[in-house]
Amino acid sequence: MPGRPGQEKEMQMNYKIIARDGRAKRGSVTTVHGTVQTPVFMNVGTVGAIKGAVSTDDLREIKTQVELSNTYHLHVRTGDKLIKEFGGLHRFMNWDRPILTDSGGFQVFSLTGLRKIKEEGVYFQSHIDGHRIFMGPEESMQIQSNLASTIAMAFDECPPHPATREYMQNSVDRTTRWLERCRNEMARLNSLPDTLNKEQLLFGINQGGTFEDIRIAHAKTISAMDLDGYALGGLAVGESHEEMYRILEETVPYLPENKPTYLMGVGTPANILESVDRGVDFFDCVYPSRNGRHGHVYTNHGKMNLFNIKYELDHKPIEEGCGCPACRSYSRAYIRHLLKAKEMLGMRLCVLHNLYFYNTMMEEIRDAIENHRYGEYKEQKLDRMMAGQT
Ligand code: GUN
Ligand code: ZN
Repeated sequence: MPGRPGQEKEMQMNYKIIARDGRAKRGSVTTVHGTVQTPVFMNVGTVGAIKGAVSTDDLREIKTQVELSNTYHLHVRTGDKLIKEFGGLHRFMNWDRPILTDSGGFQVFSLTGLRKIKEEGVYFQSHIDGHRIFMGPEESMQIQSNLASTIAMAFDECPPHPATREYMQNSVDRTTRWLERCRNEMARLNSLPDTLNKEQLLFGINQGGTFEDIRIAHAKTISAMDLDGYALGGLAVGESHEEMYRILEETVPYLPENKPTYLMGVGTPANILESVDRGVDFFDCVYPSRNGRHGHVYTNHGKMNLFNIKYELDHKPIEEGCGCPACRSYSRAYIRHLLKAKEMLGMRLCVLHNLYFYNTMMEEIRDAIENHRYGEYKEQKLDRMMAGQT
C-alpha cells in the first residue's frame, strides 16, 4: 500500500489528526464556524431544515456538529440571492456551526426528469414548477458562495450504476474539468469584497463507479489540485456493500492523508463503522431522518418498527439509557400512538432519537479510536445491533 500523499504537511492544515487506529483516523477540522471533531456524521437538512419539524435548537441538543443543505433545493426555492441578502444561510436558519452544501450535481441527476449534460454544465427542469434551469460549475459555486456555507462541494456528475466503462471514463474526465473550473471560480468569489464567507472551503469529489483503475487515476489527479478536502461520490447507488468497501480500500490510500475524506450519502450504522475502518472522516445520509419519519428507530439492539402491536402498552423509552429528548420523556406506547394518529410529534421524536443515536455512535467511534480499541468496539457494536434484529 502506498503512503498517502501530503502526509508530511499534516500539521499545517486546518485538518489535524489526533489519533489513529489502523486506518481509522480521529481528527479535527477547524473552520470559521468552529471546530468539527471527526469522524463526524452530518445531519441532512436539504432545504435548510431537518425534515420532521426539527429546529436548530433541537440540533444543538442532539449533538449535531455539521448541518448539510442542498444548493439545488435552495436555488429553486427560496433562492440563494435572497438568502445572501438576508445575511447567508447561517443567519437565515439561526445555526452558527458549520454547514456543508452539496453542489447540486447529485440532486440534478436524481430529482429532475429531463436533463442534458453538456461540457458547460447541465440543462434541466425544476422539480417544483418545471421551468428550465442551467447549472454548471460556476453557477454552483456562485450559489454556494451566496449561501455562504462553511464547506462547498464541487459540481460533479454522479454517474448511474451500472455504467459502461466508456461512459464512466468520459464522465470522470468531465468532472475533472469541472473541478478545475470550480476551483478557479471559488478563488475568484472568495476574493470579492461583498462575498459573505471569504474563507469558504472547497471539497473535490472522486468518481469512477466500481472501476478501481478509473477511481485511482482520478484520485491521483484531484489530489494534486490542493483542495480543502476530498469526497468519494457515486457510491451507495446500487452496488453491493462489499463492492463499496473494496472501492474505499483501493481509493482512499490515493487521497491526501492531510485532508478530510468524505463518503457522500452513506449510510447505515454498519456502513459507517466499516468505512471509518477504511479511513473515512465525514458522512451524511438521510436514513436516520427518513426512517424516523416512518417510525423506524435505531437502537443498540437493532432497528425497531414502532408501529408494531407489541409496543402498544410498552412503558419503556425507545432505548433505555438514551439521553435524547424522546427517550427522556416518552414511552414507546405513546410514540406509537402518535405515529398511528399521524401527529407530527410522533415523527419528530423518532427523528430526534435517530439523529441522537447516530451522533452518539460517532462520539463512541472517536473515543474508541483515541483509545486504540476501534476494532474491538466495531465488532461489539455490530454484534449487538445484529443480535437484536428481528
Ligand atoms: N451525494 C451522494 N453521492 C453524491 C455524488 O456522487 N455527488 C454529489 N455531489 N453528491 C452526492
Ligand atoms: Zn432516544
